[in-house]
Amino acid sequence: MESNSGKRDQWGSKFGFIMAAAGSAIGLGNVWRFPYITGKYGGGALVVIYLLFVIFIGTSVMLAELSIGRKARLDSVGSFKKLGGGAWPLVGWLGFFCAFVILSYYSVITGWTVAYMFKSLGGLMEQAAVSGGAADAFVAFVSDPVLTILCLMVVMASVVGVAYRGISGGIEKSCKVLMPALFVIILILIVRSVTLPGAEAGLRFYLLPDFSKVSAEGILAAVGQGFYSLSLGMGIMITYGSYLGSHEDMPKLTRTIVLLDTSVAFMAGLVIFPAVFAFGIDAGSGPGLTFVTLPAVFAQMPMGAIFSFAFFALLFIAAFTSCISLFEVVVTFAVDELHWNRAKSALAMGAAITLLGVPSALSVGGHIPQVFGKDFLDALDFITNNAIMPIGGIFVSIFVGWIWTKGALDEISNRGELKFKFYKAWLWICRLIAPVCITAVFITGLKW
Ligand code: PFF
Repeated sequence: MESNSGKRDQWGSKFGFIMAAAGSAIGLGNVWRFPYITGKYGGGALVVIYLLFVIFIGTSVMLAELSIGRKARLDSVGSFKKLGGGAWPLVGWLGFFCAFVILSYYSVITGWTVAYMFKSLGGLMEQAAVSGGAADAFVAFVSDPVLTILCLMVVMASVVGVAYRGISGGIEKSCKVLMPALFVIILILIVRSVTLPGAEAGLRFYLLPDFSKVSAEGILAAVGQGFYSLSLGMGIMITYGSYLGSHEDMPKLTRTIVLLDTSVAFMAGLVIFPAVFAFGIDAGSGPGLTFVTLPAVFAQMPMGAIFSFAFFALLFIAAFTSCISLFEVVVTFAVDELHWNRAKSALAMGAAITLLGVPSALSVGGHIPQVFGKDFLDALDFITNNAIMPIGGIFVSIFVGWIWTKGALDEISNRGELKFKFYKAWLWICRLIAPVCITAVFITGLKW
């Protein structure tokens, strides 16, 4: 464990870093939003567009963030102070604020996955087997203030416990176990789902390219999802990069993280659609799909309780490792900028985030008034995802593309040790293409 006076902690291995960064990227968004967007806007045709975006733009922005963090070896605010000066630290502040706020509600939903793991084994299947039962069970659960806040506290206490142990001893150790477990679970669930009678209809809906369904709206949704899915624009990769060894091949690491993230998003669709179509249930989106539709689907399967438990365990791992990364942005900030030790940073920030999570936990059950027509949780989600994250991404790209370009090239090539073959492409993506694309997503996303 590092303190503010000791040597900076580092990832113990390449594998550990990849598991932690992929753990951040693979989250709730992969499991429900990617499959949903894909199915709705053109199946395989949209996957191609999504792939083009993540391969060219997502990878470039991730590389930019990692290089900033590794060069400065500081949190996101400190990194921009050190490398940019002037008003640039504001971009870091935006990231800190965004991570703090996202975690406050992301941990609430992570808490739901914990409850649903246990509910799966304790009567949820019987409830969900009757028509409308899964929806009633969900409403009853989110309306229970004690239970939802308790789940939030359990999740946040666990997140604090991991962060307290530091980068190599906490985050890396847990992600090295959790992420392989996630892959095993998702593979088991895919086999179950695609072998159900009637599964082909779901596969057809999910994957057959239908160019007539591709629209500007769909393309922007895919681009926005790519950005969110890779955890860009809020200083996570800057923070994780700041603990990365100076001889690691960042372009290669980035490609691996993007590949893992995209594979899990793709595989989640192979779990969800065949199962939903096999039982003739309408595939919705969001919490509705995961906490209502899927329990109803599992309730009709032989050994449904076990598969339901496995599914919510998968969702829990995906969400929890993303929570860990969001929290590390905040903790590294407290250690580097406020000069607190790691224990104090984790405890104090953890308590503050939990407090902010309480209104989100209460809002879904209608216990507190709405904010301009949205639940408090949805309002925070809207502001962070649609406004703050894209702004962060735009400025990170501009920063490396126009301001700190030579420094970034030097860092990405390990000070000339590696040949960075795609330098020209990367440069123009950061200079022009990424800011333009992200601005388009930003503008269209501002409809409240
Ligand atoms: N990438 C995560 C997902 O796809 O669910 C979500 C996420 C985690 C976004 C962490 C942003 C973040 F900082």
